[in-house]
Amino acid sequence: MTPTMLRAAATDMVARNGRTAKVVVVIQQKGGAGKSTIAVNVAACAGRSAVLSNADTAEGSPVVAAGIDVQGTLEKWCARVREEALPFDYVVTRSKLGILPQIMTDPERRRVVVDTPGFMDIDPDAKWGEDPLGNSRTADALREVLEYADLALVPITPSKITWDEAEFTIERVLKPRGIPFLVVINMHDPGKDKSEKQLDKVKAFIDERDYPRVADPIRRYTIHEHAYENGTLVTEYKMSGTALNAREDFMRVALTMEQML
Ligand SMILES: Nc1ncnc2c1ncn2[C@@H]1O[C@H](COP(=O)(O)OP(=O)(O)OP(=O)(O)O)[C@@H](O)[C@H]1O
Ligand SMILES: [Mg+2]
Repeated sequence: MTPTMLRAAATDMVARNGRTAKVVVVIQQKGGAGKSTIAVNVAACAGRSAVLSNADTAEGSPVVAAGIDVQGTLEKWCARVREEALPFDYVVTRSKLGILPQIMTDPERRRVVVDTPGFMDIDPDAKWGEDPLGNSRTADALREVLEYADLALVPITPSKITWDEAEFTIERVLKPRGIPFLVVINMHDPGKDKSEKQLDKVKAFIDERDYPRVADPIRRYTIHEHAYENGTLVTEYKMSGTALNAREDFMRVALTMEQML
């Protein structure tokens, strides 16, 4: 089947079965802004939340984390987490189409949090108003996710290196599709940016554009840097001061996300 036929079949499936899950996509063109870290930990917080876990069934978790990159980053991370510590189910599509609509129409599911790859194959010649995602297997997978997305989380960092790409993602990819979005400041360094000068600058950049954002940033902590390697989630961090702060940051994102859904 061609991507177009697959998409038509998927749309048909969703129309017939009805959606049970809301889809949240974590998206930002720039690599390394924290998409995977946010996707995994927000899924963990949502999976632990009382509201959603009441819907828990014997079959599976109401929360699914999904990764669409061909490398399967999300799977590698989640596979390292102790099974009893994983408060969500996960799936990697490796950019195969048709999997997401299946999850969304599964009556067990309430939330799907999708980790996306930085979209490297942007069409540099795409005119304003045209889809800039280019032509590739990953681009098709991204288009499918965007077709069903109820909300997008867009990570941005106090370091200016991610700002243009955050704006590009919002203006060229999300707004034309009418997808609501929430900007998430990640990697605020409370040690190096004590006076919050850099943090204030990024907040101003976001607020000048009237983009909705999570009120406070996710702070930069070393504990996050080893999380992938160690297979840890914020919901499992030990109860030290830093770990509590780290968890609180992601809980805040999950809560703001819920308010927008
Ligand atoms: N709040 C944070 N504090 C400390 N380190 C962080 C934080 N957020 C992300 N990192 C680290 O920054 C790196 C990039 O994060 P991550 O892999 O989540 O980004 P990404 O947007 O998914 O990247 P890619 O586009 O390559 O998929 C990782 O090493 C991660 O551990
Ligand atoms: Mg990633």
